[in-house]
Amino acid sequence: MSRKKIAAANWKMNTTLSEGQALLTDLLAHDLDQGTDVVICAPFTHLATLAAQTESLDNVSIGAQNMSQHDKGAYTGETSADMLLAVGVSHVVIGHSERREYFHESDELLGQKLRQAIDKGLVPIFCCGEGLDIRKAGTHVDHVITQLKTSFASFTAEDLSTLVIAYEPIWAIGTGETATPAQAQEMQAAIRTYLVERFGADMAAATPILYGGSVKPDNAQEIFSQPDVDGGLVGGASLKADSFSAIINSFS
Ligand code: 13P
Repeated sequence: MSRKKIAAANWKMNTTLSEGQALLTDLLAHDLDQGTDVVICAPFTHLATLAAQTESLDNVSIGAQNMSQHDKGAYTGETSADMLLAVGVSHVVIGHSERREYFHESDELLGQKLRQAIDKGLVPIFCCGEGLDIRKAGTHVDHVITQLKTSFASFTAEDLSTLVIAYEPIWAIGTGETATPAQAQEMQAAIRTYLVERFGADMAAATPILYGGSVKPDNAQEIFSQPDVDGGLVGGASLKADSFSAIINSFS
């Protein structure tokens, strides 16, 4: 089964609305490989505008970087799945390491957010990854599989038919230090093996697993050519149209 090739941008807390519109306009002016699905995960204030800007494009989608696990109600400052869907958002990042670290989002909470995304029909980009101490201790595979096991505890293969996973080693995020292609492949193969055991071969074969952490135009091709790497979740290099378009076009 051939999986989707995905280049997802995570703009994080960067750009004002007008800067974001200009960045997207610039990106779309590039010659982009039509075989790659592009997802732009932008700040909440940009989502409606960027979704309207890309409405007619089949291979460009807009994603949120977070959302509430709750349906609606007295949760000041939160954004619901229905609110995202109503403005044309199709994807949502769940469990980014910055949310886990700075906002104390636990594996259990992220399981609730995942449930909400799936029930509402948003495509989840579910992040996992280990810190440097865990990598140095050699327990990185166990750590990441435990994150997934805990968050996925109540799900079936059918529930997770739209799931996208992003493996992002924390030591490689924004540091300029990229996992080697072999390190990315080792982890992503282990994730796929876990998916086979837990959800079956069909679900595992259909689930795109992205790599994130200092993906740049000069390393994307080698990383994306690994058998279990189906694309990237890109932070810093997605903030320049030239570099992100080069990454989008890095699938061989
Ligand atoms: P960088 O590409 O800036 O390392 O960020 C990766 C990331 O966190 C994407 O979600």
